[in-house]
Amino acid sequence: MAVALVLLLIVVASLLFHWLTPWWLPPLASNWQRMDDTLTVTVLITGAFFVAIMLFLIYTVWRYRHRQGQRAAYEPENPRVERWLIGATTLGIVGLLAPGLAVYADYVHPPHDALVLEVLGQQWQWHYRFAGASEKLGGTDVRFVAPDNPFGLDAADPAALDNILVTGNEVHLPIGRPIKVLLRSNDVLHDFFVPPFRARMNIVPGQLSSFWFTPTTAGRFEAMCAQLCGVGHPNMRGFVVVEPEADFRAWLAKQPTFATALAARAAAPKSADPLVARGGALAQAKGCVACHSIDGRTIVGPTWKGLFGKTETFTDGSTAKVDDEFLKRFIRDPAARPIKGFAPVMPKVELSDAEVDALVAYIKAQPAN
Ligand code: CUA
Repeated sequence: MAVALVLLLIVVASLLFHWLTPWWLPPLASNWQRMDDTLTVTVLITGAFFVAIMLFLIYTVWRYRHRQGQRAAYEPENPRVERWLIGATTLGIVGLLAPGLAVYADYVHPPHDALVLEVLGQQWQWHYRFAGASEKLGGTDVRFVAPDNPFGLDAADPAALDNILVTGNEVHLPIGRPIKVLLRSNDVLHDFFVPPFRARMNIVPGQLSSFWFTPTTAGRFEAMCAQLCGVGHPNMRGFVVVEPEADFRAWLAKQPTFATALAARAAAPKSADPLVARGGALAQAKGCVACHSIDGRTIVGPTWKGLFGKTETFTDGSTAKVDDEFLKRFIRDPAARPIKGFAPVMPKVELSDAEVDALVAYIKAQPAN
């Protein structure tokens, strides 16, 4: 009797939790109402089966409870019950799978007039690319991937030159227009996910995948990585700003093209120390910036602002002055002597001696003020 009561309480508590929980989808901001409908169908079917099975269990526990002198009957075959169970289970599974298959078929077939946005995932940041005036995405190749060319754009391809490259973790999109998202990864498995759009997809290294959606609500929505991709994974966040077409055009016009980026690169070393510039690009490319700020904020690791020349304390209480030797040794083997006050989560990054020198030069170039 007590067992039956406990089971009944579990059913009631589960249903109450479902209706009262604040943990549910954020308001929909795209065309994918059908994804929400699919989820509703799934919850209804699994919920109905859960309640039915639990009630049956409660009934049998109560009805066939132990009584003195009563013996159990053994009935291994019952074709009628088996047919009924197979039928109900089949219907349930078809109901769970079919709506999702139909939605997915649409999800990967974008309309022909969709605006193409390329999203590049990299430990631990996002890069975005739009086609420029020529309306073509230029050719890319892994051979050209470099700290200052994460997309691996081919400088010899005329179509690449007017491609618009978005730096920083914020991308803008026009409202009411279908967006075809092309996804690439430069290293490991990532997943581009904007919850209010319901849109997401794994980004498999070496594969080009795509999906589409139409933003229907203006606003600023958080984009995130939904696959654990290393220690910097929680920092792989950004924003998608949805705004009227005219505002989007104005924003897009302010973004650099591949040609202007090339020109800026050609002009830059004359004014700045090339080693520091290389270190800065490496800090971006290797994902150091996901954990180390240069503006004094503590993200995961210590800020690089004013780090050089400071005295750091290790977890064992010993101290050392941060100089070239300290930084080189720490970058080579971060786990050897953890710093007090920070989790020992920094990965060993494959770097050549020249790359370590460049990074150290960059860290050195971040004075306290
Ligand atoms: Cu990229 Cu998690």
